[in-house]
Amino acid sequence: MSEEKAILLEMKGICKSFIGVNALKGVDLVVREGEVHALEGENGAGKSVLIKILTGLYQRDAGSIVFMGKEVNFTSPAQAQAAGIQPIYQELSTASYLSIAENMFLGNEIKNKFGLIDWKATNKKAGDILREFKLDIDVTQPISTLSAAMQQMVAIATAVSQETKLVIMDEATSSLDDKEVASLMDIIRQLKKKNIAVIFITHRLNEVYEICERVTVLKDGDFIGCYDVAELDKLALISKMIGRDASSIVNFRKEYNAQLETGRPICALKNVTDGNKLKGVSFALKEGEVLGLAGLLGAGRTEIASVLFGNAKIEKGEMTVKDKKVRYHTVNDALADKIILCPEERKKDAIFPDMSIQDNVTMSILKKISKWGFINRKKQAEIINEYIGRLKIKTPNARQLIKFLSGGNQQKCIIARGLCADPDIIILDEPTRGIDVGAKMEIELLIQQLAKQNISVVMISSILEELVRDCDRVIIIREGEVVGELSREEITEESIIHRISEAHAI
Ligand SMILES: Nc1ncnc2c1ncn2[C@@H]1O[C@H](COP(=O)(O)OP(=O)(O)OP(=O)(O)O)[C@@H](O)[C@H]1O
Ligand SMILES: [Mg+2]
Repeated sequence: MSEEKAILLEMKGICKSFIGVNALKGVDLVVREGEVHALEGENGAGKSVLIKILTGLYQRDAGSIVFMGKEVNFTSPAQAQAAGIQPIYQELSTASYLSIAENMFLGNEIKNKFGLIDWKATNKKAGDILREFKLDIDVTQPISTLSAAMQQMVAIATAVSQETKLVIMDEATSSLDDKEVASLMDIIRQLKKKNIAVIFITHRLNEVYEICERVTVLKDGDFIGCYDVAELDKLALISKMIGRDASSIVNFRKEYNAQLETGRPICALKNVTDGNKLKGVSFALKEGEVLGLAGLLGAGRTEIASVLFGNAKIEKGEMTVKDKKVRYHTVNDALADKIILCPEERKKDAIFPDMSIQDNVTMSILKKISKWGFINRKKQAEIINEYIGRLKIKTPNARQLIKFLSGGNQQKCIIARGLCADPDIIILDEPTRGIDVGAKMEIELLIQQLAKQNISVVMISSILEELVRDCDRVIIIREGEVVGELSREEITEESIIHRISEAHAI
């Protein structure tokens, strides 16, 4: 039970519309001092818009915001920050070439009596702040030497030193591995001790149960309710988020594809190096197989995907696709062999923000659906509507610019692009990142259907549960090498963790 603490933030009746989208329809959010408050809901429910209104990035159409007892109307993030509200961005906008200390005190450095920056004092203060959070790092190093997780922790520590009262994490953990998430959780516990509140948005519900006291649920812009986490089990929480009974989602399991016993390999790597991370990778992928790649961040999984997709060149070793030796020079070579990649970094690698959803999704099949240079719009609409329906992509229509979709819905579009290209091999790099629980199951069901149609899937995921549910076989990657393999009967979360850590102990 959470004891009643003083109210820090009270957002009441918040409304916000965009053209064709009623994003928030009277939403309340009440956060108490020092509590970790989860904000949950499906993709497109309105979580990020609510946060953007709170931090002054968007203006509300109606409703009131009271922060620390005063009615507030922030018109810019700087104002919200000055009042003590600090968002921690997932994609950090740090100046990567500057040192850690410089980043922490940008524009705010300690000056000496001549008005010059006193680097010794600035560095010392930066070090002191980080040590308070048990972060023992050399603050004179460039910030780019830190992992994304560490950069986030530095940002949090800095925020706290500036009299922050409320920290906002909108999917801050989505690109972190288990170990990094654990460190972030430690930092959040320290914030709690300092009576700093956190609004915590995540699609990994385990995290809600690990760290949050209360949870506010939104659905399609409606306020569903605010609950004590201890009194709402996972099934009940998901049911509130999706507005129906969630048993089918929670009990989802892959059916084993017995044909695999006799299946033949469609693609194989033999002792492949890429002159970079990969140090002699060998494995074979069978027709209709879902093959999981497990390993820590930086183990080489994404590099393997790059080689398979012709994004990285093979330096030594051999790649065979459909019984012929291949040397891909560009992505087009892989596409010609019907290999498709849905990349991990969708913002950087996959999205064309100023193009519509339909053009983003169908771009790789435009030739196929065009005649004499004209796109067959009817065919295009059929395809795109099928995927909007199947993946529940939330949008007023298919002509909406993709940049106006919520994060998770953009991700669904990238998956749809891969699927509609009719691949023989599809590589999914973190396919469910940022995707809500219901849509996750839809994607997992789709993966299963693909395998049934004899399409081969390479799945990279740091969510072990997903590897267990979806894969016929899992190979363990460590420092650019395949160091273990688990057959269908052997795949469990424990066995994967064991094999990854065993590999590290060697
Ligand atoms: N600038 C904008 N113009 C038009 N529509 C927008 C804009 N920003 C957000 N929306 C729409 O508002 C709705 C809520 O989006 P929001 O980003 O808050 O969802 P979310 O709950 O954060 O979802 P996710 O879990 O996918 O991040 C969505 O339908 C989205 O497409
Ligand atoms: Mg969002």
